[in-house]
Amino acid sequence: MQIPQDLIDTAKLKLKSVQSEAEFFQLRSQYLGKKSFVISSFAELKSLDPDSKVAAAKELNILKSKLNHLFEVALEGIQAKTDVSLLDTTLPADPYFVGAEHPIAEISQRVINYFSPLNYQVFSGNEIETDFFNFEALNFPENHPARQMHDTFYLNAGKKSEYLLRTHTSNSQIHAMLREPLPLYMLSPGRVYRCDSDTTHLPMFTQIEGLVVDEDVNFGDLKGIIINFLEYFFNEKMEVRFRPSYFPFTEPSAEVDIKFGDNGWLEVLGCGMVHPNVLKGCNIDTQKYRGFAFGMGIERLAMLYYGVDDIRDFYASNLDFLNQFSS
Ligand code: PHE
Repeated sequence: MQIPQDLIDTAKLKLKSVQSEAEFFQLRSQYLGKKSFVISSFAELKSLDPDSKVAAAKELNILKSKLNHLFEVALEGIQAKTDVSLLDTTLPADPYFVGAEHPIAEISQRVINYFSPLNYQVFSGNEIETDFFNFEALNFPENHPARQMHDTFYLNAGKKSEYLLRTHTSNSQIHAMLREPLPLYMLSPGRVYRCDSDTTHLPMFTQIEGLVVDEDVNFGDLKGIIINFLEYFFNEKMEVRFRPSYFPFTEPSAEVDIKFGDNGWLEVLGCGMVHPNVLKGCNIDTQKYRGFAFGMGIERLAMLYYGVDDIRDFYASNLDFLNQFSS
């Protein structure tokens, strides 16, 4: 009878990679079960002549008891690993992953932190909106080219249906003016949608809208608050430029640029005095009240604040990227 020389060694090797009791018992039956080499060889002894029979039986018995011992010891090891009674609860815990705010949520909060002490109330707005709140009440006349500038997602399979994904947070100005008492100081952060995508644009992004309606507010107030805000936000004195621009819902309108490092002037927000048509549409007495409004892109601010150069990084769910911001 030919006994394989490496039987014990391969059994040892295989036992080392066993992960569970189930795997262990499967391996044990391979080596010590009815169909295993050792056990089935006992049945073949009777075909041998008496001398060889004694010698082979002795060898097989030694092999069997070595294997038994090997498996007994291995089983103790596996059970010890899974036995909770052997847990040492005085050892320090394994380090575990603590979640953190997304950088875009942190930047939104940073903006809110500046305006909250100035009594701006924070309102959330609707992401699914009607043409009325997203355009009409904001003084975008029907068929006005400014509507095309927004690359709107309509919710009726490409047809111009009544519902759309808001293209800016300015819709929340209208909701607030129709609902809230005056004077009104509000901030409204949230997601907006435009059919646009490259390294600096995404089809979904975040804006924060600001709106003030009060007696005697003027463009100087708007300028002051924006400059102060930007210096608070970037923690330094800023060169800020108000560049004349056009929005249907503000008059005059401006885009605000900041001088940023070697990049020259960068646009960070749009703003202006609320157009009288918008105030009138919300039943506000334009003889008594005026308003100013501003809207800023949070991803743009986050890219400048953190020095990120691809906007898509914020939404790729890459933990190596996101963990850099967890404070
Ligand atoms: N809603 C404008 C935009 O998305 C920004 C803006 C807000 C401009 C408020 C003026 C006043 O581009």
